[in-house]
Amino acid sequence: MKILAIESSCDETSCAVVENGRICHSNIVSSQIDIHTRFGGVVPEVASRNHVMAIDNVVNLALNTAGVTLKDIDAIAVTYGAGLIGSLLVGVSYAKGLSYVTNKPLIAVNHIYGHIASNYLTYAELTPPFICLLVSGGHTAIIKVTDYNHHEIIGNTLDDAVGECFDKVARVLGLGYPGGPKVDNCAKAGRANIVFTKPDNLGYNFSFSGKKTAVINYIHNLQQRGQNLPVNDICASFEKCVVDELTEKTIKACKNYKINKIVVAGGVSANRQLRAQLTNAAAQNGITCYVPDMQYCTDNAAMIGSAAYYQYIAGIGIADLTLAPNPSLSL
Ligand code: KG4
Ligand code: ZN
Repeated sequence: MKILAIESSCDETSCAVVENGRICHSNIVSSQIDIHTRFGGVVPEVASRNHVMAIDNVVNLALNTAGVTLKDIDAIAVTYGAGLIGSLLVGVSYAKGLSYVTNKPLIAVNHIYGHIASNYLTYAELTPPFICLLVSGGHTAIIKVTDYNHHEIIGNTLDDAVGECFDKVARVLGLGYPGGPKVDNCAKAGRANIVFTKPDNLGYNFSFSGKKTAVINYIHNLQQRGQNLPVNDICASFEKCVVDELTEKTIKACKNYKINKIVVAGGVSANRQLRAQLTNAAAQNGITCYVPDMQYCTDNAAMIGSAAYYQYIAGIGIADLTLAPNPSLSL
């Protein structure tokens, strides 16, 4: 079954052709990073307008790269939430139009299920159950994924998402947007010699706003004293305190629920320290850790095409022309 998938929830316009949830024939991503950089972050209205301008070319390129036409496609999938309302509207409207003119089924996909499915594209042998560590710009959670379409949230952030903190720390350090990859790069050149964290008693839940504030206060203190900022060391220390907490709680969840597979999902899965530290800690505990291929870590349509396949064969999320985007769609 070949699915044409569309993703436009934030600042990437993407279209992919994915077969049977596992084989990616094309995955075109048109990023708006250059457009939003001068504003220091994503401007929603600017994002929507650029999706409108890009989507036709992106879809045609995805079909051409896959060597197929719309006649070869069995269903159309689209991200309908969560995300920016204007951005989502562009993808959802386009997908509804395609479904209408081709008379092919329309599958509505939750963006976060897409991030989890990015691992099915990377590892042909991977099947649920597993413990998923979800680390994105809007979410941080530990999820017990029991089947392709069933899960239980066992831990959640009580305040900020981890990606949001990376972006904020980068902004205060003047590193710019998008912050995560910039902090990742600086951290590689620094030493984790500043302590920003203390043990918590939150169980499987997370709290990141305290860490973020500790980093910001540290920076402001040095600035007020007119001292140079050890940018690389601050990044390495912040990253360490976040990754330590994510690693420790994910391993604990695996042991407690007796599951020996970890799957990492969401944009922060691109973070090199997290990938290395979690993979090592898992191996020491007899657990296999799956991290998505770099091309599937941040927003892309291939992951939506994969999630859509498993929904379709289970009869879940089949939509019609009344489909509306849901900017605050939950897990
Ligand atoms: O999963 P995603 O696309 O966001 C949502 O769907 O909500 O991820 C975007 C987030 C941003 O906060 C970005 O800074 C972060 O992922 N990110 C990273 C890295 N690459 C992207 N964070 C840390 N290290 C990275 N290498
Ligand atoms: Zn995302």
